[in-house]
Amino acid sequence: MNQAKHIAIIMDGNGRWAQMQGLKRVKGHETGAKVVKAITTYCSNNENIERLTLYAFSTENWKRPRLEVEFLMKLLDNYLKNELPSYLKNNVKFEPIGDTRAFSKSLQKTIKMVEEKTAHCDGLVQSLALNYGSQDEILRAVNALKNSKKDITAEMLNNALDCKEDVDILIRTGGDSRLSNFLLWQAAYAELFFIDKLWPDFSSKDLEKIIKQFTKVERRFGGLK
Ligand code: IPE
Ligand code: IPE
Ligand code: MG
Repeated sequence: MNQAKHIAIIMDGNGRWAQMQGLKRVKGHETGAKVVKAITTYCSNNENIERLTLYAFSTENWKRPRLEVEFLMKLLDNYLKNELPSYLKNNVKFEPIGDTRAFSKSLQKTIKMVEEKTAHCDGLVQSLALNYGSQDEILRAVNALKNSKKDITAEMLNNALDCKEDVDILIRTGGDSRLSNFLLWQAAYAELFFIDKLWPDFSSKDLEKIIKQFTKVERRFGGLK
Protein backbone atom coordinates (compact mmCIF):
# COMPACT_ATOMS: atom_id res chain seq x y z
CA MET A 1 0.00 0.00 0.00
CA ASN A 2 1.37 3.43 -0.94
CA GLN A 3 1.69 6.12 1.68
CA ALA A 4 1.86 9.67 0.38
CA LYS A 5 4.71 11.58 1.95
CA HIS A 6 4.69 14.61 -0.31
CA ILE A 7 1.46 16.18 -1.52
CA ALA A 8 1.54 19.15 -3.88
CA ILE A 9 -1.49 21.23 -4.84
CA ILE A 10 -2.22 23.73 -7.61
CA MET A 11 -4.88 25.72 -5.80
CA ASP A 12 -6.91 26.96 -8.76
CA GLY A 13 -10.38 28.43 -9.14
CA ASN A 14 -10.56 31.21 -6.54
CA GLY A 15 -11.56 33.89 -9.02
CA ARG A 16 -14.29 31.82 -10.68
CA TRP A 17 -15.66 30.77 -7.30
CA ALA A 18 -16.15 34.42 -6.34
CA GLN A 19 -17.50 35.52 -9.70
CA MET A 20 -20.08 32.73 -9.73
CA GLN A 21 -21.66 34.33 -6.68
CA GLY A 22 -21.41 37.87 -7.93
CA LEU A 23 -18.43 38.67 -5.70
CA LYS A 24 -15.11 40.28 -6.60
CA ARG A 25 -12.32 37.85 -7.53
CA VAL A 26 -10.33 38.80 -4.45
CA LYS A 27 -13.09 37.41 -2.19
CA GLY A 28 -12.22 34.04 -3.70
CA HIS A 29 -8.59 34.46 -2.68
CA GLU A 30 -9.67 35.36 0.85
CA THR A 31 -11.80 32.21 1.12
CA GLY A 32 -9.01 30.21 -0.52
CA ALA A 33 -6.66 31.24 2.28
CA LYS A 34 -9.05 29.67 4.80
CA VAL A 35 -8.87 26.41 2.85
CA VAL A 36 -5.05 26.59 2.95
CA LYS A 37 -5.31 26.71 6.73
CA ALA A 38 -7.77 23.78 6.91
CA ILE A 39 -5.75 21.57 4.54
CA THR A 40 -2.48 22.38 6.32
CA THR A 41 -4.00 21.45 9.68
CA TYR A 42 -5.38 18.23 8.23
CA CYS A 43 -1.97 17.26 6.83
CA SER A 44 -0.19 18.19 10.06
CA ASN A 45 -2.44 15.69 11.86
CA ASN A 46 -1.69 12.90 9.38
CA GLU A 47 1.46 11.14 10.51
CA ASN A 48 2.39 9.82 7.06
CA ILE A 49 2.44 13.19 5.32
CA GLU A 50 5.80 14.92 5.63
CA ARG A 51 5.44 17.72 3.14
CA LEU A 52 2.66 19.83 1.65
CA THR A 53 3.66 22.10 -1.23
CA LEU A 54 1.06 24.69 -2.24
CA TYR A 55 1.18 26.81 -5.39
CA ALA A 56 0.26 30.28 -4.16
CA PHE A 57 1.76 32.67 -6.75
CA SER A 58 3.41 31.76 -10.04
CA THR A 59 6.12 33.58 -11.98
CA GLU A 60 3.35 34.20 -14.56
CA ASN A 61 0.81 35.63 -12.10
CA TRP A 62 2.46 39.08 -12.34
CA LYS A 63 0.48 39.43 -15.60
CA ARG A 64 -2.71 39.95 -13.58
CA PRO A 65 -4.22 43.39 -12.90
CA ARG A 66 -2.09 45.39 -10.47
CA LEU A 67 -4.82 45.57 -7.84
CA GLU A 68 -5.25 41.79 -7.77
CA VAL A 69 -1.49 41.27 -7.44
CA GLU A 70 -1.34 43.83 -4.62
CA PHE A 71 -4.25 42.12 -2.87
CA LEU A 72 -2.52 38.75 -3.09
CA MET A 73 0.69 40.19 -1.59
CA LYS A 74 -1.22 41.75 1.32
CA LEU A 75 -3.19 38.54 1.83
CA LEU A 76 0.03 36.53 2.00
CA ASP A 77 1.58 38.96 4.47
CA ASN A 78 -1.51 38.86 6.71
CA TYR A 79 -1.84 35.10 6.41
CA LEU A 80 1.72 34.46 7.55
CA LYS A 81 1.51 36.92 10.45
CA ASN A 82 -1.89 35.69 11.65
CA GLU A 83 -1.09 32.01 11.25
CA LEU A 84 2.28 31.98 13.01
CA PRO A 85 0.70 30.73 16.28
CA SER A 86 -1.00 27.85 14.39
CA TYR A 87 2.27 26.89 12.68
CA LEU A 88 3.88 26.66 16.10
CA LYS A 89 0.93 24.93 17.76
CA ASN A 90 0.80 22.28 15.02
CA ASN A 91 4.60 21.93 14.86
CA VAL A 92 4.57 22.96 11.16
CA LYS A 93 7.73 24.24 9.54
CA PHE A 94 7.23 26.93 6.88
CA GLU A 95 9.53 26.68 3.89
CA PRO A 96 8.99 29.03 0.93
CA ILE A 97 10.08 28.03 -2.58
CA GLY A 98 10.38 30.36 -5.55
CA ASP A 99 12.25 33.59 -6.13
CA THR A 100 10.95 35.83 -3.36
CA ARG A 101 13.51 38.55 -4.17
CA ALA A 102 10.87 40.08 -6.45
CA PHE A 103 8.61 40.84 -3.46
CA SER A 104 8.60 44.05 -1.41
CA LYS A 105 11.16 44.29 1.36
CA SER A 106 8.46 44.16 4.04
CA LEU A 107 6.87 41.00 2.61
CA GLN A 108 10.32 39.40 2.34
CA LYS A 109 10.82 40.28 6.00
CA THR A 110 7.56 38.57 7.01
CA ILE A 111 8.48 35.47 5.00
CA LYS A 112 11.93 35.31 6.65
CA MET A 113 10.42 35.89 10.09
CA VAL A 114 7.97 32.96 9.82
CA GLU A 115 10.67 30.78 8.28
CA GLU A 116 13.02 31.49 11.19
CA LYS A 117 10.40 31.19 13.92
CA THR A 118 9.23 27.79 12.63
CA ALA A 119 12.72 26.46 11.75
CA HIS A 120 12.74 24.20 14.82
CA CYS A 121 9.36 22.60 14.06
CA ASP A 122 9.80 18.98 13.04
CA GLY A 123 6.27 17.99 12.05
CA LEU A 124 4.79 18.75 8.64
CA VAL A 125 6.74 20.98 6.25
CA GLN A 126 4.37 23.43 4.62
CA SER A 127 6.05 24.80 1.55
CA LEU A 128 4.40 27.76 -0.17
CA ALA A 129 5.38 28.34 -3.79
CA LEU A 130 5.82 32.11 -4.00
CA ASN A 131 6.84 33.73 -7.28
CA TYR A 132 7.54 30.15 -8.24
CA GLY A 133 7.93 28.73 -11.72
CA SER A 134 9.47 25.35 -12.34
CA GLN A 135 11.40 26.56 -15.38
CA ASP A 136 12.75 29.51 -13.40
CA GLU A 137 13.71 27.15 -10.54
CA ILE A 138 15.59 24.83 -12.93
CA LEU A 139 17.34 27.76 -14.62
CA ARG A 140 18.45 29.20 -11.27
CA ALA A 141 19.78 25.76 -10.29
CA VAL A 142 21.65 25.32 -13.58
CA ASN A 143 23.20 28.77 -13.24
CA ALA A 144 24.27 28.01 -9.67
CA LEU A 145 26.03 24.87 -10.95
CA LYS A 146 27.44 26.18 -14.19
CA ASN A 147 30.98 26.68 -12.88
CA SER A 148 31.17 23.10 -11.67
CA LYS A 149 34.28 21.33 -13.01
CA LYS A 150 32.40 18.03 -13.22
CA ASP A 151 29.43 17.12 -15.40
CA ILE A 152 26.18 17.96 -13.61
CA THR A 153 24.46 14.85 -12.27
CA ALA A 154 20.74 14.42 -11.56
CA GLU A 155 21.55 14.45 -7.85
CA MET A 156 23.48 17.71 -8.12
CA LEU A 157 20.69 19.36 -10.04
CA ASN A 158 18.07 18.04 -7.64
CA ASN A 159 19.96 19.42 -4.67
CA ALA A 160 20.27 22.84 -6.29
CA LEU A 161 16.49 23.13 -6.70
CA ASP A 162 14.29 25.00 -4.22
CA CYS A 163 12.19 21.87 -3.71
CA LYS A 164 14.37 18.78 -3.37
CA GLU A 165 11.65 16.19 -2.67
CA ASP A 166 9.82 14.05 -5.23
CA VAL A 167 6.07 14.54 -5.27
CA ASP A 168 3.78 11.55 -4.59
CA ILE A 169 0.40 13.16 -5.17
CA LEU A 170 -0.14 16.23 -7.34
CA ILE A 171 -3.62 17.74 -7.21
CA ARG A 172 -5.06 20.54 -9.32
CA THR A 173 -8.47 21.94 -8.44
CA GLY A 174 -10.52 24.15 -10.75
CA GLY A 175 -11.16 21.77 -13.64
CA ASP A 176 -8.11 22.35 -15.83
CA SER A 177 -5.66 19.56 -16.62
CA ARG A 178 -2.33 21.32 -16.84
CA LEU A 179 0.69 21.86 -14.63
CA SER A 180 1.13 25.61 -15.25
CA ASN A 181 4.88 25.45 -14.60
CA PHE A 182 4.62 23.70 -11.20
CA LEU A 183 7.23 21.16 -9.99
CA LEU A 184 8.02 19.75 -13.45
CA TRP A 185 11.16 17.97 -12.23
CA GLN A 186 9.81 16.80 -8.87
CA ALA A 187 6.53 15.47 -10.30
CA ALA A 188 8.25 13.10 -12.75
CA TYR A 189 6.49 10.11 -11.15
CA ALA A 190 3.72 11.83 -9.22
CA GLU A 191 0.17 10.56 -9.43
CA LEU A 192 -1.92 13.36 -10.92
CA PHE A 193 -5.41 14.23 -9.70
CA PHE A 194 -7.36 16.84 -11.63
CA ILE A 195 -10.41 17.87 -9.63
CA ASP A 196 -13.39 19.89 -10.94
CA LYS A 197 -14.11 21.54 -7.59
CA LEU A 198 -12.87 25.11 -7.25
CA TRP A 199 -10.24 25.64 -4.54
CA PRO A 200 -12.53 27.49 -2.05
CA ASP A 201 -14.86 24.45 -2.14
CA PHE A 202 -12.07 21.90 -1.61
CA SER A 203 -12.10 20.23 1.80
CA SER A 204 -10.08 17.79 3.86
CA LYS A 205 -12.73 15.17 2.99
CA ASP A 206 -11.79 15.58 -0.69
CA LEU A 207 -8.12 15.23 0.18
CA GLU A 208 -8.82 12.17 2.28
CA LYS A 209 -10.56 10.53 -0.71
CA ILE A 210 -7.56 11.24 -2.96
CA ILE A 211 -5.11 9.85 -0.40
CA LYS A 212 -7.21 6.70 -0.17
CA GLN A 213 -7.27 6.32 -3.96
CA PHE A 214 -3.52 6.80 -4.06
CA THR A 215 -2.93 3.94 -1.62
CA LYS A 216 -4.35 1.54 -4.26
CA VAL A 217 -2.38 2.79 -7.27
CA GLU A 218 0.29 0.47 -8.64
CA ARG A 219 3.41 2.62 -9.01
CA ARG A 220 5.91 0.93 -11.31
CA PHE A 221 8.48 3.69 -11.86
CA GLY A 222 9.21 2.21 -15.26
CA GLY A 223 9.74 -1.32 -13.94
CA LEU A 224 7.36 -4.27 -13.89
CA LYS A 225 5.18 -5.52 -11.06
C1 IPE B 1 -5.77 30.49 -8.04
O1 IPE B 1 -7.03 30.94 -8.38
C2 IPE B 1 -5.03 31.45 -7.16
C3 IPE B 1 -3.91 32.15 -7.81
C4 IPE B 1 -3.48 31.94 -9.01
C5 IPE B 1 -3.26 33.18 -7.03
P1 IPE B 1 -7.26 31.86 -9.64
O2 IPE B 1 -7.13 33.29 -9.25
O3 IPE B 1 -6.38 31.45 -10.77
O4 IPE B 1 -8.78 31.56 -9.98
P2 IPE B 1 -9.40 31.34 -11.42
O5 IPE B 1 -8.64 30.23 -12.06
O6 IPE B 1 -9.25 32.63 -12.16
O7 IPE B 1 -10.82 30.99 -11.13
C1 IPE C 1 -1.74 28.31 -11.38
O1 IPE C 1 -2.98 28.86 -11.61
C2 IPE C 1 -0.99 29.14 -10.38
C3 IPE C 1 -1.48 29.08 -9.01
C4 IPE C 1 -2.46 28.33 -8.57
C5 IPE C 1 -0.77 29.90 -8.06
P1 IPE C 1 -3.24 29.89 -12.80
O2 IPE C 1 -4.67 30.26 -12.75
O3 IPE C 1 -2.26 31.01 -12.73
O4 IPE C 1 -2.89 29.00 -14.08
P2 IPE C 1 -3.36 29.11 -15.59
O5 IPE C 1 -3.11 30.54 -16.03
O6 IPE C 1 -4.82 28.80 -15.63
O7 IPE C 1 -2.55 28.11 -16.32
MG1 MG D 1 -6.59 30.15 -12.32
